[in-house]
Amino acid sequence: MATMNSQQRPDKAEPASLSFASQAVHAGNVIDATTGAIRTPIVMANSYQLPDDSSALDWSDSQTLFYTRNSGHNQLCLERKLAAMERGEDAAVFSTGVAALHSIFFTFLKSGDHVVVSDVTYEAVWRLFGELLPQRYGIEATFVDISDLAAVRDAVRPNTKLIHAETIANPTTKVADVQALAKIAHDAGAMLSIDATFTPPPMFRGLEHDADFVVHALTKYINGHGDAMGGAVIGRAELIRRLKADALVDVGGSISPFNAWLIMRGSVTLPLRLAQHVSGAQRVAEFLDEDPRIAFVAFPGLASHPQHTLASRQFGGMGYGAVMAFAVQGEPEIQNRFVANLRVITSAVSLGHDESLIVHVGKAGRGGSECYPDEFREYGHLRLSIGLEDPTDLVADIKAALDETFA
Ligand SMILES: Cc1ncc(COP(=O)(O)O)c(C=O)c1O
Repeated sequence: MATMNSQQRPDKAEPASLSFASQAVHAGNVIDATTGAIRTPIVMANSYQLPDDSSALDWSDSQTLFYTRNSGHNQLCLERKLAAMERGEDAAVFSTGVAALHSIFFTFLKSGDHVVVSDVTYEAVWRLFGELLPQRYGIEATFVDISDLAAVRDAVRPNTKLIHAETIANPTTKVADVQALAKIAHDAGAMLSIDATFTPPPMFRGLEHDADFVVHALTKYINGHGDAMGGAVIGRAELIRRLKADALVDVGGSISPFNAWLIMRGSVTLPLRLAQHVSGAQRVAEFLDEDPRIAFVAFPGLASHPQHTLASRQFGGMGYGAVMAFAVQGEPEIQNRFVANLRVITSAVSLGHDESLIVHVGKAGRGGSECYPDEFREYGHLRLSIGLEDPTDLVADIKAALDETFA
């Protein structure tokens, strides 16, 4: 039976010995054994040829190629690449970022377990821990201000099995001190999962800060082109094996070979794109911060951000991500008018795409929004993801839209 490793060109440099930019090009890419194509082709097949004695197969196995829900050639290539980029032992990829997050909760939590969760997270995580998992499966959750380490410590109970946070929280941009959270989790015999979607490598590698799991919505920066959805969990091989056996094979949120291939291709330019995203974001955030028509800006790259010093240290001087939240002075109607007046920046959800995206999120009603800072609750907020456009054009677009809104 063919496996990715048997097709690997023997003289290929080991991805771990390469620099990040070289890994982004080479890691996980396999020369096609049939055609000699130097880029891994898309293998659109639900099934693979079985060995002579298929009765010996482990049907929960996700390394051997026999059925695409368990494992596929493009999926394995992408997993190998992500593990190399995050310097982890192994990776599991899923159809979406939420499927990847859920795979950790589903595999490693059971009724009666307790979780400490950041009080600001992506909406789906809030709903999972605020409603679905407690109500349906008896998993208890405490939401805490993750930047208050004493509060995190106090929230831990004897049955706490997991702490979960985002490196930079969506949408308030609160920054988690990953190493400090890992210590609290490990002292309590629990694990730490970190959603690092806003801070992909080489900017940040959560496993090197002692997290047990790093999660990415591949939909965002790692793919980067706004055309494919995917998610990944990276961590120790034994944990990833369990997670695939339970949450991939028997829940089934498998990525399509085509999307895995698109994400492989998109991720080649990640280091180049990330540099442009973060420098553009810094420029736009500074512009917003200085304009009196803007009520507030939340962006870790501004000295006024409560975790600016932590972010500078933790992200190793590689920037502060490229997502910010802000509001225009005035009522919600003003925010809508401002968005309608933008000509370059597109009004749409998602982030980490090549084009800049903005979404007007209302004042209340979202899960967990009562934990947002006062200014978010007073004005609502606009979440802005800076794309790859020339920052001069983005600043000009924002300025022109403000001028038109206040004319
Ligand atoms: C931080 C974060 N994690 C996870 C997700 C979910 O990813 P997906 O939409 O691919 O399920 C998102 C989506 O916006 C996100 O911002």
